[in-house]
Amino acid sequence: MITLKTADEVHHMREAGRIVAKVIRVLGESVVPGKTTLLDLDRLGHDTILAEGGTPSFLGYRGYPNAICLSINEMVVHGIPDGRVVQEGDILDVDVGVCIKGYHADACYTFPIGAISPAAQRLLNVTRESLNQGLAKAKPGNRVGDISAAIQKYVESHRYGIVRELVGHGIGREIHEEPSVPNYGKAGTGPKLKPGMTFCVEPMVNEGTHKVRELADGWTVVTADGKLSAHYEHTILITETGYDILTRED
Ligand code: MF3
Ligand code: CO
Repeated sequence: MITLKTADEVHHMREAGRIVAKVIRVLGESVVPGKTTLLDLDRLGHDTILAEGGTPSFLGYRGYPNAICLSINEMVVHGIPDGRVVQEGDILDVDVGVCIKGYHADACYTFPIGAISPAAQRLLNVTRESLNQGLAKAKPGNRVGDISAAIQKYVESHRYGIVRELVGHGIGREIHEEPSVPNYGKAGTGPKLKPGMTFCVEPMVNEGTHKVRELADGWTVVTADGKLSAHYEHTILITETGYDILTRED
């Protein structure tokens, strides 16, 4: 069932979303290449969420062991923070979920660490723009498939692989609710968008094959060919005329 949120519910999700955006920004700003570890970032993220009055949505979710998901280079999503040092030239996906008064928001951003290769920069640019292309279809009367198709078309026109095994999702009282929001598919298909719907749009784009595999830790998803992957995500609300991004600071 797809739930439509009340103004009060949206209010809590917006507050959670403000904290999500702040944490992503703070973590991005705090990386010192060659010095900062992924666990340093996880701890700072966790502390910042608590200091803002939220709780980390991911910690304990299906047994996930940390507050933040940090996925470097060929990692697609769900990287578990460890003692690895972030290096100049890396691309780092910072994925954050926060809960306020029982309501969640979820977003991510892939940061370039110092100077990165032109190829990596192109991947970041196309992935970010693919999120915008999808969001441009987010309005009442359109369908989920309109968002999916716009993302797939844009990504594939740049000859990158769009990940299929993982998808965007409704969000609210649960971190994952209906509907599924795939990043591939046919325009004109899927649930109709209505004011009050809240969901995450989150294209994962691979430099090479769209295929992925999971590491033995049971969480980390990597590209099947070891090439780079990027990921951007926002939680949005469908409004009367379009959409509103809930995961922003202002
Ligand atoms: N941000 C992820 C998503 O959009 C959620 C991470 S799942 C967790 O689905 F288990 F790592 F928390
Ligand atoms: Co998500």
